[in-house]
Parts: sequence; structure tokens; C-alpha cells
Amino acid sequence: MHLRPSSMGAAASGSREATWWDKCRAETPGCKHVIHFNNGGAALQPQCVLDAVQHYQQQEAVWGGYETQRRLSRELSLPYTALAELLNCSPNEIAIVGSATSAWAQVFHGIPFKPGDVILTSLAEYGSNYLAYLQVQKRSGVRVEVIQETPDGDINIPHLQQLLAQQPRPALVSISHVPTSSGRVYDAAAVGAAAAAAGVPFLLDACQSAGQMPLDVQQLRCDFLTGTSRKYFRGPRGIGFLSSSSSSMAGWEPAMIDIHGAHWTGKDSYTFYDGAVRYEQYEVSMAAKAGFGAAVQYCLQQDIARCWQRTQQLAEQLRQMLSQRVPGVTLQDRGAQLCGIVSFTLSSHADAGAVREWLESRQPPINVSVSGAGSSRLDFTARGLQEVLRASVTYYNSEQELEVLVQALQELVDSAQQGGKSRV
Ligand SMILES: Cc1ncc(COP(=O)(O)O)c(C=O)c1O
Repeated sequence: MHLRPSSMGAAASGSREATWWDKCRAETPGCKHVIHFNNGGAALQPQCVLDAVQHYQQQEAVWGGYETQRRLSRELSLPYTALAELLNCSPNEIAIVGSATSAWAQVFHGIPFKPGDVILTSLAEYGSNYLAYLQVQKRSGVRVEVIQETPDGDINIPHLQQLLAQQPRPALVSISHVPTSSGRVYDAAAVGAAAAAAGVPFLLDACQSAGQMPLDVQQLRCDFLTGTSRKYFRGPRGIGFLSSSSSSMAGWEPAMIDIHGAHWTGKDSYTFYDGAVRYEQYEVSMAAKAGFGAAVQYCLQQDIARCWQRTQQLAEQLRQMLSQRVPGVTLQDRGAQLCGIVSFTLSSHADAGAVREWLESRQPPINVSVSGAGSSRLDFTARGLQEVLRASVTYYNSEQELEVLVQALQELVDSAQQGGKSRV
């Protein structure tokens, strides 16, 4: 079954907006085949991104990899210029690497931690980041302290300020802006202001927020910001980025360096090339890099403030529809500000993975994802949860798609109550 453009959405949002996002849907081949609520996992790529990747790869096959790199240098410079425009920094403060985790690790593991150093992080910290803290705790004897949350689920800034006032001063503030497993958006600008006032470096994992909402690294006052292509930017997999202010870059070296970012000057010496290139590695998928450039440019063309407004509106609508119409649903998003990630549990279905599979088996498939405790253990433990279903919406989703998801969940719950065949 092919999905029609959403007439319900047009009626609900006014014809001008409907024209804009209906066009975005038409530019997204996947919208004809699936109902995609896994934008926080990997969003559907617009045709221009697919074209950029395929074109690059085809040129490599015809001309050779290194030669294509020279021929298509404009395409390869696009991620730097477009990200710099979007994040309000300079292109040479951007590095393109293989993933958000690589970008983050390049910064984090480059910090020369000493025994007794303190790392401040948030309750909803991403699992891979927290694993890195534990590894450094084991190797170097650092201490990890978790900043408390306010009752409504934001970072408790007075508590952060108290932790920052400790002597010796903490070595780093490092948080995930939007957690992997719920819709909350931490007030990263307030965290950045507190860290800057205390003179403590601030590393912001913006993997789930970059491309979803407007971000300005000057306003956020982060020393380093990391993210990926495949989520809300709608780019290809296998590529990520970091932005680093020029002054922060001067402070520490990257965890791993190579001849692409550093100049080997003598038997006992090297210097870094200018800018964030020092965080990059020589080898990365150039086709993915070109595709990421096209994706960030597409994001700029759509106007990220407009995308963000529609994403929030759709997510709020979905939360309301779920809570009003699906018996036994519990919305699991807590936070003063929420985003496009809608997390929930169903009392009739403890096995979230089975629900995900059942939704994916429908025609058209409905894609949602499951977040488990390992992805953000402190937060899951605090909320007494093992796993949640995650429907992450973005601006190209339609109101009609929300309706299809809610009806499917109603059917599933009804059927479970009656012991019927849709029970999973
Ligand atoms: C908050 C957060 N940080 C980092 C990552 C890791 O991104 P990547 O898999 O691109 O390294 C994720 C992935 O889901 C995430 O949700």
C-alpha cells in the first residue's frame, strides 16, 4: 500500500504549512513505503541525499577514490560550511569523523585525567559515554558525580553550581542534550553558562538534538559538541561530526592522531594543522561525507526553526492521542521541555520488542524502536523501568501517520484484552 499525502494534516495545520511538509514527504522516497517513527534511530533520507551518495560512489568507481576526492572537493567541503552556518561557528572548527561516538571519544579520551579528577554528568547520560567514564575511573582513578534533576526532570542548576564550586575544581562537565530513551531536552545553555562561570570545560553530546532543533554553540557555551548524520539530520549512516571552539582545541590533544591532522616534523616532534581537522582521521567514507553535506544543506533549506516547531507539535499530539485513546499506556517522557522522542510503555505488553516487531509486520510497516536500560542505566533505574517503546517523530511525519499508529496500538491492546490473535 502506498501512503497518500495527508489531507487530515492539511486541514489541521493550514494549507501553507501543509504545502511545505507535503513537499518534504514527496522528496522522501521512504514515505511511500513505511510509517517511520524511528527518526531518533536513523531517519529517512531525502532524495537529494541519496543522489549525493550515489553520485559520489559512482564517480569513485569511474575515476578512482583519491582522484574523486580532488574532483568533488566542493561536495566534500559542504558538511563543514553547512554545519558551521547551522551551529554558528567557523568551518575550520568542524571535524567530520565516522560516528558521533568516535567524535565524542576523540575529545574525551584526549583529556589527561589524573587520579581524583571529577567528571560531572547527567542522570540521563548515554550508555556509551558512561562506559567511557567507568573505563577512565578504572584506569585513572577519576570520580563520576551525577548532577541532580529538578522534580520536572531538567538539570538542577543550583546543584550543578554547587558541584562546580568544589576544590579542586571538576575536570569536565559532560552531558547528553537529549537522552537516547526519552523526550526530555536538558537546558544545555544553562549548563554551559554554569560551566563557563566556573572555568570548567563543557562537552555536549548533541547526537539526538542536532538536526532536530536550532543549536548555537556560542549560546550553548560548549567547548565541544558532537553529533551524527543519520538521526535528525536525515543523512547516511557511518558519519558523525564534532564542533570545537578554537580556544578549547588549544587545551587538549585528540585521543588519536594521524598524518591527516598532524604534521610529523622530526624524530621527536609533530605539530597540528590548523583547526578541528586534528580530530579527523585520514580515512572515512567520502560518499557518506558528501551525503551528510547534502543532508545538512537540506536541513538549512527547510529552516530548522520551522522543522522544530512542527516536530514538537506532532510529538505533543501523539502524546495526547496515546494517553486519551490507548488503554494501559503510560507516557514515559519527563522534562520541562520535550522534543520529538515519545517514549511509552503498555501495561498489557511487557515485551516492547514484540510490540515493535508486530508494528513492523503490518502493511504499511510502522517503525518504532525500543530503548533498554543499558542505553541509559541511571535514568531507567531512577524511573523503575527496564525498557520503553520509542516513537520518534519528525517534521515530515503526518497527522495521518499518527492516527495509523494509535489505531494499531488500540487494536493490539483490545486484542490482548480479549485474548485475540493480535496479542504479541
Ligand atoms: C545520546 C546519544 N549519544 C550518542 C549516540 C551514539 O551515536 P553513534 O551511534 O552515531 O556513535 C547515540 C545513539 O543513539 C545517542 O542516542
